Amino acid sequence: MSERSNAGRPGGNSRKVFIKTYGCQMNVYDSQRMGDALAKDGYEPTEAIENADLVLINTCHIREKAAEKIYSELGRIRVLKAERAARGESMQVGITGCVAQAEGAEIIQRAPVVDLVVGPQTYHRLPEALSRVALGEKVVDTEYAVEDKFTHLPKQEARQIARRGVTAFLTVQEGCDKFCTFCVVPYTRGAEVSRPRADIVLEARRLADAGVRELTLLGQNVNAWLGEDAGGAETGLAGLLYELAEIPGIARLRYTTSHPRDMDEALIEAHRDLPSLMPYLHLPVQSGSDRILKAMNRRHRAADYLFLLDKIRDARPDMALSGDFIVGFPGETDADFEATMQLVRQVGYAQAYSFKYSPRPGTPGATMEDHVREEVKTERLERLQKLLREQQEAFQKSFVGKVTDVLIEKPGRHAGQAVGRSPFLLPVVVPVDAGQIGDIVSVTISQSLANSLMAEGAEAQPVASQDRSDPLTRPEIRSFA
Ligand code: 5AD
Ligand code: SF4
Repeated sequence: MSERSNAGRPGGNSRKVFIKTYGCQMNVYDSQRMGDALAKDGYEPTEAIENADLVLINTCHIREKAAEKIYSELGRIRVLKAERAARGESMQVGITGCVAQAEGAEIIQRAPVVDLVVGPQTYHRLPEALSRVALGEKVVDTEYAVEDKFTHLPKQEARQIARRGVTAFLTVQEGCDKFCTFCVVPYTRGAEVSRPRADIVLEARRLADAGVRELTLLGQNVNAWLGEDAGGAETGLAGLLYELAEIPGIARLRYTTSHPRDMDEALIEAHRDLPSLMPYLHLPVQSGSDRILKAMNRRHRAADYLFLLDKIRDARPDMALSGDFIVGFPGETDADFEATMQLVRQVGYAQAYSFKYSPRPGTPGATMEDHVREEVKTERLERLQKLLREQQEAFQKSFVGKVTDVLIEKPGRHAGQAVGRSPFLLPVVVPVDAGQIGDIVSVTISQSLANSLMAEGAEAQPVASQDRSDPLTRPEIRSFA
């Protein structure tokens, strides 16, 4: 879970907004952009929910647990709203994101504390919706807007970008046409839409001008991005990456999340030819069993995935792989699960996410036969996670004694330390005199910790458990595909 809020307009009335973000990085990005829209409307961010005139919960619907959390959160907010009302202060409460899209007006029926329900496609209409709420209306806006929300959202201001740091997300694509049978995304985020190249390049330049050094392009199916190059010819994600790599100041590029079917030759070649394209790829496979892959409508076999990885590793031998796995999809037998374990052993992941299958209303998987018993799911998940943990540990340990580049992102938890990331997305604790925030420095790794590495010279201070609250490392949902 993370909380993001955004700087307000200086002067003006000082209404305060508290934004809480659940789910993937696309939600983090959306929350920032909503914050930008509200800042223009006079809202200042607050980290203290009890002081907020407006509370927005940007939600995730990917698994049942993620969606249910919202309702327990709303129970707490109801108490805070009543306390504010007793002091003669108001609190408007809005639900945004994928639960808003999926459940719409039902949310207000179930939790009358909610004043506003806005789906992911209409954030640019948030200020207008809020003025209706101020008049006492309950507002539900979950249409798929015909206008492009990105062009209607205000531009991010340099000081806001700078406050957010030297790494930035940039949504380039939204929605999904793949219809994996377990997944709600095609229903909550709609059909695949790519943002135009020129808009993306413009936003990337603004980010770079404000000091951003690393860009992560986001999309539920980011490698399905399609656009036109400067000459009007059709181009895929690779073409976009080559163009972004030319922007002065941008030293690192990443993208997430990708579908194996959309990893085209040009993109694989970009990994060989573009030094700023980082050697870390989140490429979910979900299962190692062909039978289950078919039932999931993934439209490839396990062997196709392995063949693809061979090609990727030919192009970029040091590529670190990450993935998502679902255990206990309907009909999954012991043999199917063993096929997943076998695939994981064959691939050797640097890091991966794994989940128990959670039936989502409205998806084909929910009405399939042979649902797997909870105890079986739990046992399989434990075995898979143990294997993935071992692989992660081995991956991290392979850096001890070696030199690696680190982009310094922020001060560390302890005096004398700063924290950054290696090209493989591993957090690295470096000595504070290694460089400034935004510098890329070469350090020698002395130690592998639970979820991070320690560079030589940084060990002087005792290190507490590492930062799991960062959206890129937290074990919550971080990707779709
Ligand atoms: N149950 C469990 N996990 C799911 N995911 C998506 N839908 C479900 C579901 N119904 C997982 C997939 C996806 C990641 C973001 O969440 O592994 O890649
Ligand atoms: Fe689309 Fe990914 Fe969901 Fe499949 S898992 S439907 S590719 S978002």
